[in-house]
Amino acid sequence: MRIAISTGGGDAPGLNAVIRAAVLSARSRGWDVLGIKRGFAGLLGEDEVVPLTEASVRGIASLGGTILRTTNRGSPFAYPVPRPDGSWTQVDRSDELVENARNLGIEAIISIGGDGSLKIAQQLGAKGVRVVCVPKTIDNDVSCTITTFGFDTAVTTAMEALDKLHTTAESHDRVMVLEVMGRDAGFIALHAGVAGDADVILIPEIEWELDKVCEKIQDRDASGKRFSIVVVAEGARPKGGEASIIGESLPGQDRRVGGIAERLGVSIQQRTGKETRSLVLGHLQRGGSPTGYDRLLATRFGAAAVQAIADRKWGHMVALQSPHLVTVPIEEVLREPKRVDPEHDIVQTARRIGISFGDR
Ligand code: F6P
Repeated sequence: MRIAISTGGGDAPGLNAVIRAAVLSARSRGWDVLGIKRGFAGLLGEDEVVPLTEASVRGIASLGGTILRTTNRGSPFAYPVPRPDGSWTQVDRSDELVENARNLGIEAIISIGGDGSLKIAQQLGAKGVRVVCVPKTIDNDVSCTITTFGFDTAVTTAMEALDKLHTTAESHDRVMVLEVMGRDAGFIALHAGVAGDADVILIPEIEWELDKVCEKIQDRDASGKRFSIVVVAEGARPKGGEASIIGESLPGQDRRVGGIAERLGVSIQQRTGKETRSLVLGHLQRGGSPTGYDRLLATRFGAAAVQAIADRKWGHMVALQSPHLVTVPIEEVLREPKRVDPEHDIVQTARRIGISFGDR
């Protein structure tokens, strides 16, 4: 048996632990393993395909990033190609990929990625490529799995930032607004906000109003708590408004959301008269060493993906449905995106301890 591994989309702490576990499990069955560089680009002549052995994965479980590199703009079905005039177009290079995989003797692929990679896996499956998926995202927004590796590390990073912001905010009687990742889903903001003792949490799933946010800050002020901490997911939208867009994305990439903390900070200061500072945590949430929880989950996923290949579960994703690891058909995973349920007990818990979501 010869299998290949690919990591696609934004990186997440734990990717290397998945690769390591998959390689060690496959090698213990006597299988050959190849690593496809930069998502699927390595199979399109852009980079390379490398052999992965016990030696290549030694000691990598604790490392952030991915030894295979990754890309968020390399779908073989819409591959960005520059035109002579400097503009870009997209071409379908999937047949080339299928042929290259066949020529390399690749019998199955483990694709580690989020929704984008799952869609590519589904399309490749329709062309006869045998793919098993491992869910990856720091945003925790892949359906059918309780959580994804990388999320716990991102929440820990955001929570530690909130801890640090508390001491400086309190010293200066300031409002601090922290923007965390979460284009469409507010899991990082919610979990870090509750664990890190935020006063206001704003997420894409609950529309907020500036008046309500300021009311919370002013109530705290009136009761003698002269500082406040707001955590806002980058994709959070004010009632009736749109998510804030920042910069320009490259061809083939999703639009870049962000900048909400700065805009919100200015509005809070204007409305309340309280000095307000903002910061964007950004890609710090994606970097660094995975937490113990993420390393363990990633290792379980990597070994389970190899088992799924042995069980011929083509077109399935490994998932955590506690206490079990299961496999779920990709169509089912893609049916509905996972979002924060505004009725979820963590939201209720937050409300019960006085955290505002800016909606009431
Ligand atoms: O993949 C999830 C994510 O972390 C989003 O929350 C965020 O908007 C995006 O990645 C940023 O990715 P990029 O690396 O393209 O800036």
